[in-house]
Amino acid sequence: MLTGKRILLGVTGGIACYKSVDLVSRLKKQGAEVKVVMTDAACEFVSPITFQTLSGNVVHTKMFDQLFNMDVEHISLAKWADLIVVAPATANTIAKIRYGIADNMLTTVLQARRCPLAIAPAMNTAMYESKQTQENMKALKEEGVHFFDPCDGLLACGDVGAGKMMEPVDMVERIRYVFTEKTLAGKKVVITAGPTLERIDPVRFVSNHSSGKMGYSIAELARNRGADVTLISGPTKLEAPWGMKVIPVESTLEMFATVEKEFDSADILVKSAAPSDFRPAHYTDEKIKKKEKDSLTIELTPNPDIAKHFGKLKKNQFIVGFAAESHMLEEHAQRKLKEKGFDFIVANNITQEGAGFKGDTNIVKIFHKEGWQKDYPMMAKTELAKVILDLVEEGLKS
Ligand SMILES: Cc1cc2nc3c(=O)[nH]c(=O)nc-3n(C[C@H](O)[C@H](O)[C@H](O)COP(=O)(O)O)c2cc1C
Repeated sequence: MLTGKRILLGVTGGIACYKSVDLVSRLKKQGAEVKVVMTDAACEFVSPITFQTLSGNVVHTKMFDQLFNMDVEHISLAKWADLIVVAPATANTIAKIRYGIADNMLTTVLQARRCPLAIAPAMNTAMYESKQTQENMKALKEEGVHFFDPCDGLLACGDVGAGKMMEPVDMVERIRYVFTEKTLAGKKVVITAGPTLERIDPVRFVSNHSSGKMGYSIAELARNRGADVTLISGPTKLEAPWGMKVIPVESTLEMFATVEKEFDSADILVKSAAPSDFRPAHYTDEKIKKKEKDSLTIELTPNPDIAKHFGKLKKNQFIVGFAAESHMLEEHAQRKLKEKGFDFIVANNITQEGAGFKGDTNIVKIFHKEGWQKDYPMMAKTELAKVILDLVEEGLKS
């Protein structure tokens, strides 16, 4: 959430203005207070009344409007903001920001700001790749300005290439990153997530229902807190998150080998994956045909226990384990906590509604190596990620 955050949105004259309408709506839903400043060119694309209605605040367009509250508007707006986001940002306005040109309400507010600034460029590929725009962006990046980089795509002008403004849903995530205190800066966090998949033949496999959502939520929050994140992910339907190293793996053996490569340099290992405990003893190169047999027995052989192995090798690493159980939760969790060298274990009963593999929520009990245990109510996996990383940070301090 962005509750109480004061975000000033600068809208400049590009076709992507319409997307910024959605951005305002999303920021408001996150609890942010939003004020909008538009350039004259932006007003040619979208009416200020649209932004005014969605933001619930007067939209500022003119430098020399009648004063609304006897303030010097550009200064009070600059002081009001916790963050200024310029989206879409034209080549023209980016150049003005770089050189401190203050010839309209937006560029004057920008010149008067002390808060962080984020810029979401949006323009034709040739404009984006031009020497001037590239140099302007480079210089601003070096000054600490955040850039919400555009992606490649079909542009309004019909060209296909770089310059398409980042989607508002992704910008909200970047804004959250900007606001998050970098409490894990300098720490390398390795997270395993999702199921593993063990092949039987070229079309069949053994796997489980893990969605990867818990691990991905932890990885995203750790990134927002400034950690250097490596996400080792089994096959999931989730998009690879930005700002981290994502290593896709398939089988438990592959996951094991990948953790092995990353473990020594890790400060924190979060074992939220659900690796298969067993794999078919023999892989069949050709598809097993139905007619060949009336029944089929697949022999399974145990996979290495990744958590236990690295729990034994651990030096200074802080290790968080997970236990998804269907019965005797406490007994299984306590045993794993001790056997696998975890600092704490997050246990859930997968048969409980709201605590399963696939959903967005979980209901967990945490067992800590210091002897305490605590029940947590049903909460979103994103909220649980906070609980887990707060406990990790406490653990690192003690
Ligand atoms: C239909 C149309 C679309 C435009 N789209 C963009 C754009 O996406 N990016 C950009 O940098 N300029 C674009 N321009 C040019 C800017 O509107 C122009 O450079 C203007 O001076 C920008 O002013 P501002 O930076 O004060 O908003 C577009 C112009 C027109 C007519």
